[in-house]
Amino acid sequence: MLYSEKVMDHFQNPRNLGKMEDADGIGEVGNAKCGDIMKMYIKVENDIITDVSFNTFGCGSAIASSSMATEMIKGKPISEALELTNKAVAEALDGLPAHKMHCSVLAEEAVRTAVKDYYEKNTL
Ligand code: FES
Repeated sequence: MLYSEKVMDHFQNPRNLGKMEDADGIGEVGNAKCGDIMKMYIKVENDIITDVSFNTFGCGSAIASSSMATEMIKGKPISEALELTNKAVAEALDGLPAHKMHCSVLAEEAVRTAVKDYYEKNTL
């Protein structure tokens, strides 16, 4: 089987799916080669990511990766969220096929971009 059960589960039942109207930070990233786009929304209080959601216009692995990434950073300090690697996301999904690893990279980048956006909006 090409995809693990966890990948299939997060693809079919994505966690934290949808736009967040009052997000403190938004990160949008894309992969020029496949054309997939991922958008991540975060809510921050006292340096903790209290809420997170996403919208992904892309392949199943990208949807599963973003879903897993939101679960991994929810309730965590920003410093920890910034340490999230695409490898950790892929491992949490019980692996991705080699040619699908770039999909998990989008999740790592989306988290970082959302945090960057939050900092840009919240520093004078
Ligand atoms: Fe491009 Fe999955 S094929 S993100």
